[in-house]
Amino acid sequence: MRVKPVSDVKFCLVFQRETLSVPVMRRVLGDTLLGLGVDNESVYDILLAATEACTNVLTHGGRQVRGYAVVTSVGAVGCQVEVADDGAGLPPGTGTRPDHPPAPRAPEAELPVAQLPESGRGLAVMRACVDNVTLDSRPGHGTVVTMRKRIRWPEDAPLRAAS
Ligand SMILES: Nc1ncnc2c1ncn2[C@@H]1O[C@H](COP(=O)(O)OP(=O)(O)OP(=O)(O)O)[C@@H](O)[C@H]1O
Ligand SMILES: [Mg+2]
Repeated sequence: MRVKPVSDVKFCLVFQRETLSVPVMRRVLGDTLLGLGVDNESVYDILLAATEACTNVLTHGGRQVRGYAVVTSVGAVGCQVEVADDGAGLPPGTGTRPDHPPAPRAPEAELPVAQLPESGRGLAVMRACVDNVTLDSRPGHGTVVTMRKRIRWPEDAPLRAAS
């Protein structure tokens, strides 16, 4: 019997700038992806990466952020999650944009434990969890973080077209 193709689905979750938005995002996005047939491990990775991106909006977006959107596209190739805010954006030359690579620093293994950095790991966590991460930001014009992960769909995934 021929396996049915996977449909394309896109949905958008809009949140206010409040701490509770992050666990709510996790619950709604996680339940939705599982319901479409995404495997547990991929959902875990996507939620971890999305949590870091949403936490960054709350931490770094600044007071001008009123809210943010988590736009998810799911299809045959995989899952894309965009986290978009209308906040302060990155100051120029901060090292998280492709055109502003970070200054080289000592590998963590060479630092005494007391000097290990306590922050700056969110983007690395995102990159470890998904296949591709981009961060598009201009000062004063908000930030969009885009995360893509390939998905292997089971034959009985609900997302496979009904016809
Ligand atoms: N939505 C955003 N708005 C403005 N700046 C951002 C945003 N997301 C990331 N950044 C910038 O990118 C930097 C790196 O983010 P990253 O999540 O890797 O580290 P962190 O948030 O500083 O620390 P950690 O995630 O380990 O607590 C941030 O310090 C911040 O300057
Ligand atoms: Mg962070």
